[in-house]
Amino acid sequence: MKTKDKNRQMRVINPGESLERFGDLEEFAIDVLVGLSEINKKLPSKYLYDAEGSRLFKEITRLMEYYPTECERETLENNKDRIVSHVADEPFNLVEFGSGDGQKTSLLLDHFLKLDLDFQYAPIDISQSAMVELFDDLDQKFPSLRVEGIVSEYFSGIRWLNNRSDRKNLVLFLGSNIGNFSHAEARIFLRNLWSCLNNGDLVLVGFDLKKDIEMLLKAYNDSEGVTAKFNLNILTRINRELGGQFDLSKFRHFGTYDVFTGAMESYLVSLERQEVFIEEIGRSFSFRPWEPIHVEYSYKYLQSDIEILAKETGFKVREHLHDSKKYFIDSIWEVKKTENNNSQG
Ligand code: AVJ
Repeated sequence: MKTKDKNRQMRVINPGESLERFGDLEEFAIDVLVGLSEINKKLPSKYLYDAEGSRLFKEITRLMEYYPTECERETLENNKDRIVSHVADEPFNLVEFGSGDGQKTSLLLDHFLKLDLDFQYAPIDISQSAMVELFDDLDQKFPSLRVEGIVSEYFSGIRWLNNRSDRKNLVLFLGSNIGNFSHAEARIFLRNLWSCLNNGDLVLVGFDLKKDIEMLLKAYNDSEGVTAKFNLNILTRINRELGGQFDLSKFRHFGTYDVFTGAMESYLVSLERQEVFIEEIGRSFSFRPWEPIHVEYSYKYLQSDIEILAKETGFKVREHLHDSKKYFIDSIWEVKKTENNNSQG
């Protein structure tokens, strides 16, 4: 806990009991065992983001070929007053899923502070170290900002916040992180979000749009090979944390687009027949030549897909915000609840 003054609070919310059954490492080992035992091998993309993975992702966001970050930054920059117009009439919590990548959220925080809006910033992140880093950064940039940092899973964090604040919520879910979910998973995620919120609360969700396929392929197969390093790093993590014996030179990153599902897909392809032992799991896994491990989906949307998704999960679209090239949408939605379907938590 690192709170310099009463403007800054950091809460660590205990995870639900079901999550306490396993330690983090055991959970990682189980996920790797399950994923690599399937006929179509896969690894959960959340494991891409250890310290090195987060550093590499930041490097990706600075590549010319990886357009989404700059498009979303431009979208928020050009529309910050539009965003204000949706919240300015009453005090609010600016909730963020994830501790932010700094830059894009800072742009909004800076603007809201300059306008002297009555709000507090409530980032929710499962990683305490990421939260400590964010606090240090905010201390420097915005000493007067009121921050309620919540270290927990997204939904328990937002429920905790809602139980002790009557303020309206604006929930940010930026960066097209929703693209990591399949359409079914995205619906479940958004419906869970809906049930944690009150009638009239707002969400702002970043979606990457369907576009020229060559451009998508370049964004996920960059010429400097940073994306390849980012994906291969998941094997390095297994080696380090689970005593794996992956030889990274025997795997190749492959990024492709599924024209039917509209998803960019990242794979690690085994270049030869090999057996890889993982100590913590106590067994080895066989790979055939050219056998892939799936590591990530990044689903791309049409504006009409976004509208259907909002409606299906109980939201009303307030406004779509675009960048000048219309590569990206930050969509502002309002929670719609009637007396009958109000969630009881
Ligand atoms: C952080 C999940 C939004 O899917 O575009 C970037 C991750 N993977 N390049 C994305 C990523 C490869 C990124 N998200």
